[in-house]
Amino acid sequence: MESAEIRRRWLRFFEERGHHVVPSASLIADDPTLLLVPAGMVPFKPYFLGEVKAPWQRATSVQKCVRTPDIEEVGKTTRHGTFFQMCGNFSFGDYFKEGAITFAWELLTSSVADGGYGLDPERLWITVYLDDDEAERIWREVVGVPAERIQRLGKSENYWSMGVPGPCGPCSEINYDRGPEFGPEGGPAVNDERYVEIWNLVFMQYERGAGDGKEDFPILGDLPSQNIDTGLGLERLAMILQGVRNMYETDTLRVVIDKATELTGVAYGAAPASDVSLRVVADHLRTSVMLIGDGVTPGNEGRGYVLRRIMRRAIRNMRLLGATEPVVADLVDTVIKTMGRQYPELLTDRKRVETVALAEEAAFLKALKGGTNILDTAVTETKAAGGKVLPGDKAFLLHDTWGFPIDLTLEMAAEQGLSVDEDGFRRLMKEQRERAKADAKAKKTGHADLSAYREIADNSGATDFTGYTLTENESTVVGLLVDGVPSPAAAEGDEVEVILDRSPFYAEGGGQLADTGRLRLESGAVIEVRDVQKPVPGVHVHKGVVQVGEVVIGSPAHAAIDVGRRRAIARAHSATHLTHQALRDALGPTAAQAGSENSPGRFRFDFGSPNAVPGTVLTDVEQRINDVLSRELDVQAEVMSIDDAKKQGAIAEFGEKYGERVRVVTIGDFSKELCGGTHVHNTAQLGLVKLLGESSIGSGVRRVEALVGADAYNFLAKEHTVVAQLTDLVKGRPEELPEKISGMLAKLRDAEKEIERYRAEKVLQAAAGLAEGAKDVRGVALAVGRVPDGTSADDLRKLVLDVRGRIQGGRPAVVALFTVANGRPLTVIATNDAARDRGLKAGDLVRTAAKTLGGGGGGKPDVAQGGGQNAEAVDEAIAAVERLVAEAA
Ligand code: SER
Repeated sequence: MESAEIRRRWLRFFEERGHHVVPSASLIADDPTLLLVPAGMVPFKPYFLGEVKAPWQRATSVQKCVRTPDIEEVGKTTRHGTFFQMCGNFSFGDYFKEGAITFAWELLTSSVADGGYGLDPERLWITVYLDDDEAERIWREVVGVPAERIQRLGKSENYWSMGVPGPCGPCSEINYDRGPEFGPEGGPAVNDERYVEIWNLVFMQYERGAGDGKEDFPILGDLPSQNIDTGLGLERLAMILQGVRNMYETDTLRVVIDKATELTGVAYGAAPASDVSLRVVADHLRTSVMLIGDGVTPGNEGRGYVLRRIMRRAIRNMRLLGATEPVVADLVDTVIKTMGRQYPELLTDRKRVETVALAEEAAFLKALKGGTNILDTAVTETKAAGGKVLPGDKAFLLHDTWGFPIDLTLEMAAEQGLSVDEDGFRRLMKEQRERAKADAKAKKTGHADLSAYREIADNSGATDFTGYTLTENESTVVGLLVDGVPSPAAAEGDEVEVILDRSPFYAEGGGQLADTGRLRLESGAVIEVRDVQKPVPGVHVHKGVVQVGEVVIGSPAHAAIDVGRRRAIARAHSATHLTHQALRDALGPTAAQAGSENSPGRFRFDFGSPNAVPGTVLTDVEQRINDVLSRELDVQAEVMSIDDAKKQGAIAEFGEKYGERVRVVTIGDFSKELCGGTHVHNTAQLGLVKLLGESSIGSGVRRVEALVGADAYNFLAKEHTVVAQLTDLVKGRPEELPEKISGMLAKLRDAEKEIERYRAEKVLQAAAGLAEGAKDVRGVALAVGRVPDGTSADDLRKLVLDVRGRIQGGRPAVVALFTVANGRPLTVIATNDAARDRGLKAGDLVRTAAKTLGGGGGGKPDVAQGGGQNAEAVDEAIAAVERLVAEAA
């Protein structure tokens, strides 16, 4: 049965049984504790925790997942993949253990003709948690599984949590016996290769606290209701239903292996090592495509690094298989074709995915060159010092500047017989991460533990945001934190975080900066609000300082935003939408939004583009935007279902997670986008938009920065003044400026060259005098002396060689000249063949001279250079050289 069919049957089965079909969420987790979605239940976490009321009691999904802790195992075992699809069915306070168990059994064992998967019930083994008598009873009595095929396992196997604080509970797993050729008998407790886990039923009923990993954590209490979270590995079931030995040979991955074979000529099955490489390529390339598809771009941090590491491992393995040319285009194409059947957005986004992937391949091939040089030097140095371990800071440097994943450094060092100080590397990585985290934390939420905000949300509900229509409103203080700690009251001068029941303050989000303003309490107290964030969904936290009076929870408060700032931000935000649309019109759908920031009077907009955007295109885009302004288009916002929004062609941002109901902002007939921000009412309010140019901010992503309204006007006015000053200076009309100024620059360059030539000539003129003035020291012609200060090292060298050439007659000759440049003494010394025959080596002479100058130097026997710190010591150094020559001659 094909993977696409497994997916279809899953969704149909549960839909027929009252489950709402929820499309896979983006791999980019909408959860600060996670980088990427590792399990099907992640999008539903707020429902399990009761933070948000579930809109349905039953749901089902096939969720894209990425897990990388076992990345080293990929290709070596039969079932470790970095990307996989988790089929899940979920109950939020509806059915519990019996419902989950009977659904699972029915779907697995009913015949293919009846819509099931047709597995042989005799081959299914069950595990339950140590004390879960109830689950075991259901399996035996309700389903009829014989006792000998039910095993009890401990916390590490049969208790599930996300590894971090959140929902958890005991679980029961369904395992499939693949037969004696895969290992000894005895059930999953004995061998998990033969009895492979296919489906995990989690009885989600507790909330866990912080603790180490999977086993060591406290249970904080019951969840608001008893829930079900199940996960069936689509790839694992495909492996069984397609009768192949490992997940890499299932339909959607095998085609990638075959493509890699076609590109490298290495057949699958030829040798164990090349098989591992082929499997790594298939797995990693697919994961890369899925990540890029969801808006991840390669980078050195966070998700970007996960993607970079995976992609670079894949490319490296292709090279190990013998590929010498770029390979990514063909492999990406294969993945898109096969995965596009389940994820049609890959087909429509093909261009963007390819662009990002190809840019990363090009960057990596370039980095491989540059990084290999650094690595080779580090290896030579380590070996020269008698070491066997490459220092951690070198591995870190390779990672930081060349994007070398650590496993690449390990492999390449091993090829040259060295290991790597991995602990040192990880320490430096950790330090870097902590620096970044501290920065981010200091900027955003002063309070990392979100429980205080959750509690306020539980007691008082979400903030009623009135800011789409109002700029001030009456409200009540429902939550208060002082220096990040919940408090009943705050005094004058305190740094506070205030939560109101209603608020016109926009919390930073969707690229729009927060409002600032003032809260005036009935008591007369005033809080100046400097920032507003939403640390948990729906709760607006106003951060600021108590300027006068005392604040107590429950106080009535008048909340008013700074209207001027809000209007300037709204102008910037509407201008961003216009820019987005105009760029798409000019460059095609690859110019999709990759990020933005809307601040008062200015904005920046990041978008996908493989190359720099030519100046002429930017000018056209700016022209179009300004044309739209004068068409006085109305700006309207409307809340609708996500399906309707899509039908109307609204643009959504990559990686954003949207709910069922979305807000769509429409600007006349020009732009339609999903957006929660605040906007102007009519484009005429923008006045003027000025793009300030564009730049690269990473592979395949560009940034435009722009000014709006008065800021744009002020900028142009300032430029106008500068142009006026210039026309005055060069005595020409504005349009003549470029030509006139470039003419002047050319003249200046010529003049500089001329001066340079005169200077060099003057230095060389000195050569004749110096050669003539050479002293005879016991048959050696010694030209020694000081030339004018400021002579460059290059000129000094030329002069020394010139003087040496002028000393005639086959006499031994030593030329030693000194100068002082930028306050530091410098010397160049040269000897001819005859002098060297007498043992006079330039390198030795320079060493002595430079030592006297308080520095060092050296070079070859014929010419050497050195310098020092002490400009006063030049005469002494000259004397030292004379002495040495006299001694040797
Ligand atoms: N959350 C469980 C898992 O990931 C079941 O979906 O295994």
